[in-house]
Amino acid sequence: MNITVVGTGYVGLVTGTCFANAGNRVTCLDIDAKKVETLERGDSPFFEPRLSELMTRSIQANRLTFTHDIETAYSDADVIFVCVGTPTGEDGRCDLANVFRVADDISTTRLGSATLPLVIIKSTVPVGTTNRIAEKLNEFVVANNPEFLREGNAIDDFKRPDRIICGVEDPDAIETLTKLYAPFVGQGRPLLFFDIRSSEMVKYASNAMLACKISFINEIASLCEKNGANIDNVRTGMCSDNRIGTQFFRPGIGYGGSCFPKDTLAVMEMGEESGAPCLVNTAVHALNQRQRTWFANRILKHFEDDLTGKKIAIWGLAFKPQTDDVRDAPSIDIANKLLAAGAEVTGFDPEAWETFQREVPEIVISMDMYAALDGADALVICTEWSEFSAPDFSRIQSLLKTPVIFDGRNIYSHSDMKKYGFYYYSVGRPTLEICHI
Ligand SMILES: NC(=O)c1ccc[n+]([C@@H]2O[C@H](COP(=O)([O-])OP(=O)(O)OC[C@H]3O[C@@H](n4cnc5c(N)ncnc54)[C@H](O)[C@@H]3O)[C@@H](O)[C@H]2O)c1
Repeated sequence: MNITVVGTGYVGLVTGTCFANAGNRVTCLDIDAKKVETLERGDSPFFEPRLSELMTRSIQANRLTFTHDIETAYSDADVIFVCVGTPTGEDGRCDLANVFRVADDISTTRLGSATLPLVIIKSTVPVGTTNRIAEKLNEFVVANNPEFLREGNAIDDFKRPDRIICGVEDPDAIETLTKLYAPFVGQGRPLLFFDIRSSEMVKYASNAMLACKISFINEIASLCEKNGANIDNVRTGMCSDNRIGTQFFRPGIGYGGSCFPKDTLAVMEMGEESGAPCLVNTAVHALNQRQRTWFANRILKHFEDDLTGKKIAIWGLAFKPQTDDVRDAPSIDIANKLLAAGAEVTGFDPEAWETFQREVPEIVISMDMYAALDGADALVICTEWSEFSAPDFSRIQSLLKTPVIFDGRNIYSHSDMKKYGFYYYSVGRPTLEICHI
């Protein structure tokens, strides 16, 4: 099949590459000409494990091409996947300008063609949007097909999804989607066809549920701190109950990224607009924002609210491990708060140094995790990259001016921290104040 994928971000590029890998001829369109130049050279504009290798294979097999010309992209397409960004707008609502612009472009280039392409909205859009696009493109069949991949594990998630959801009622479109997704389903991985509105809602409801689990465990963690319990024990006890499960249930400095924060806000907005205010989601969002501020304030409090002349090192800048994405990362708010309080901030991240420096130009980026610590008054962990999990603690001790660790992801054990004599703060666990300063 001739597929055009619109938008070459984390979702579009992975979608295009995986469909090309499955034998389709895929054209990826982006309005960002610089991005297209990078892609044409065979490079990925962002870090995603295994993506470059799969891209190269499909480019060499002439199944994957890139363009920023809408005529080239749309003229031969049998199927168009719309994967453009749907960020939170200035008014707090989901900004749909990109998706509607794509609808206009498709209409301009294809209306009047002998056969019209199936248009599939993969971007996350508020309930009712796919139908609004269908009204605009009234000669075309328009379907909804939300994406559930996780950055950092995107290729595997796309190729082996827990489920694929399609919102479509047209029988030919159902047949096309069944053929397209045949290589990725089976073996207990269902391809589910729903009405369009339910399909749109599944995506928001799933992200809202996962965000809720994170804010919930963070709320319990703060109760643990106030009441002398240890969240590790509480979590282990809770997770032994199969109904609760273990995933997305780790205390820390909260969620970030391009999905949970904006999708939670979009759910709240949908609630307001439809007269069904979403009280749980409102609390989930507020708790998540509070968590970052609370953690930054904890650092400030340790230094008696004055960071003048202090140097703070941050390990982990990406919103989560295995990505260079820093959109709405807690590390941004934390670094900014430390800088505003007068600190010099150094940062290390295995992948997200360039993306972070663009957001926080005042940070001094170090290309070596230990060099970032040299002469620092404290180490702050914002992202749980595996390279931080078993470091050389003696080396950390000798590099830091004072052996203080603020662990925003609870990656270290109390026994290690005691053994090496760190002053150690984490989330929902007792603070260790014993150290050999
Ligand atoms: N990132 C994720 O992990 C993830 C997971 C599931 C769903 N989603 C959803 O998928 C959508 C895309 O997310 P993303 O993270 O890939 O976005 P992104 O911002 O990384 O990429 C979007 C791309 O679309 C391009 N674009 C914008 N308007 C265009 C137009 N008119 N024509 C062609 N290209 C255009 C941009 O230049 C950009 O390269 C969003 O709705 C998001 O909520 C994202």
